Amino acid sequence: MRIFPLVSLFLVAACQSMNLGSSGASARDVHSLADPHAVRVTHASLDLELDFDAREVRGTVELSFERSSSSAPLLLDTQGLTIEAVTDVDGEPRAFALGPEVAHLGRRLTIDLKRDDARVRVRYHTAPSSEAILWLDPEQTAGGKHPFLFTQGQSILTRSWIPLQDSPGVRITYDARIRCPERLTALMSAERLGRDRDGAWRFRLDRPIPAYLIALACGELVFQGISPRCGVWAEPSVIGTAALELEDTERMIVAAEELFGAYRWGRFDVLVLPPSFPYGGMENPTLTFATPTILAGDKSLVSLVAHELAHSWSGNLVTNATWSDFWLNEGFTDYFENRIMEAVYGTERALTERVLAIDALAQEMSELEPFQQILHTPLDGRHPDDGFTSIPYTKGALLLWRLEEVVGRAKWDAFLRGYFDRHAFASITTADFLDDLRRELFDGSREFADRVDLALWTAQPGLPDDAPRPASRSLAIVDEQVAALASGIEPTALDSTGWTTQQWLRFLRALPADVSLESMASLDAAFGFTRSGNSEILCEWLGLAIRRGYSTTDARLEEFLRTVGRGKFLRPLYAALVAVDPARARRLYAGNRARYHAAVTSGLDELVGEE
Ligand code: BES
Ligand code: ZN
Repeated sequence: MRIFPLVSLFLVAACQSMNLGSSGASARDVHSLADPHAVRVTHASLDLELDFDAREVRGTVELSFERSSSSAPLLLDTQGLTIEAVTDVDGEPRAFALGPEVAHLGRRLTIDLKRDDARVRVRYHTAPSSEAILWLDPEQTAGGKHPFLFTQGQSILTRSWIPLQDSPGVRITYDARIRCPERLTALMSAERLGRDRDGAWRFRLDRPIPAYLIALACGELVFQGISPRCGVWAEPSVIGTAALELEDTERMIVAAEELFGAYRWGRFDVLVLPPSFPYGGMENPTLTFATPTILAGDKSLVSLVAHELAHSWSGNLVTNATWSDFWLNEGFTDYFENRIMEAVYGTERALTERVLAIDALAQEMSELEPFQQILHTPLDGRHPDDGFTSIPYTKGALLLWRLEEVVGRAKWDAFLRGYFDRHAFASITTADFLDDLRRELFDGSREFADRVDLALWTAQPGLPDDAPRPASRSLAIVDEQVAALASGIEPTALDSTGWTTQQWLRFLRALPADVSLESMASLDAAFGFTRSGNSEILCEWLGLAIRRGYSTTDARLEEFLRTVGRGKFLRPLYAALVAVDPARARRLYAGNRARYHAAVTSGLDELVGEE
């Protein structure tokens, strides 16, 4: 028999010495059906085949685990998986059962363990509708010849392609062997170990990560280096453009390291995906996934790379223990992203981006329920993605800007560097962060503590009055021109020389909601918005065009909705369509839905409704 009190004492001590954090790791995660406190998975070894014809991933995962109870079964999260067999590593069967479907969470897989089991092997296959995976037809790729696949795990989708403990409080290492059609390249969020004799791609990640960071992509992909530790992957016809646009990435890594300490993941590569990728970017370790809609041709949208890079500290190194603590990932990253932008591109660019984000927060806040405005978001009974608003991002970052303002940048930066060290490879809660802050930054003194009401900031709706309100010169210039336009000058007479993307965004957002069709036509003639190759500017313009009934953009809009699957763009465009012409919205959506990822359709189904 195992001596459980001793084992758990040892585990606690080991966790602390390995810096796995005790409190965060023991926080209850309402979005997982596993019980890591009894049996905790520590490593996953995948052996999978990607069947593009059947749209099925099949194979085995071998899970290693630590046990603090000899009688407790191993509980895993699954969604839409067919479990074919469970055995020990010698192939001896273990009893298993799939529980009932739980709203948002999938089905619990219960595996009965023998006394000495430390590993089990699960043979399974995915459903064609697996929510993590998007299977693309060749025509959805730039090359048009080969199919493509990518996964998106955050927040709770990894369970739809791997049975595991899908909680951000459970960190595992992993290795993988992936078989796919000969011509295609498989990539994962891990170190690449090349192809084995059978042509399978091999990977290994020896730093522990939460399940939502396990990621896979497969398609016709090529690589171009930027620096010895950093480069870009993309389809052959995109690689040149992508590598040029992202050529400052190594400079960003250097800037980030100077701010907050060594980059701990080996390589930092960016995979530029086909446009149906549902997010701007996803911080998969060693291999950020990015939308091609950031390739504007002038590096004006590369703050997204700074953002995903920043997650290598805030999010991947120090992780939210539960999805209610999501702001610890995104608020820190939003703050950190802006510090990288400031270091690489200067104060004005960084300020401009902050001001635009704060404006967007104010706008969104007016549409959110009070509970949705709380940083430590209540999510019981809800899907974690319900918390995906600008609150964790911009309100979260504003708290950190406020703390910096109060203690001064030197002291604040020293605290942050220490914070990433103290909690490296740990999952922590909002309460852990506040404890750390009081202990390490405030030093038990009231001097600073009295100047920031942490309970107000983290547990109440609204934006506290002490939220910093930065101003930007370059946006003030735009406001002057918008005022001139309102007082009757011709669009052609506007002084927009040298305006940046951020200035144009301010301009479009500041136009009066009742701007006339004639004004829109002359703005379009003067500035070519409908032809814009900048996705942010185009999306803003298309939204305005829908609201004003400016039909010149119709073909461009339909092409955009057919090719781009990024939720940030689709949500406002479909919302605008629903408001003016719900039947058209439903028709367009029905035609495009199969090309969008589940992370986006789950929200759009509700917004647009079925045809
Ligand atoms: N990790 C997020 C994306 C995400 C969040 C996926 C929640 C699933 C659930 C990523 O780092 C992110 O924040 N992406 C932003 C870009 C950013 C510059 C704000 C996006 O995709 O818009
Ligand atoms: Zn992020």
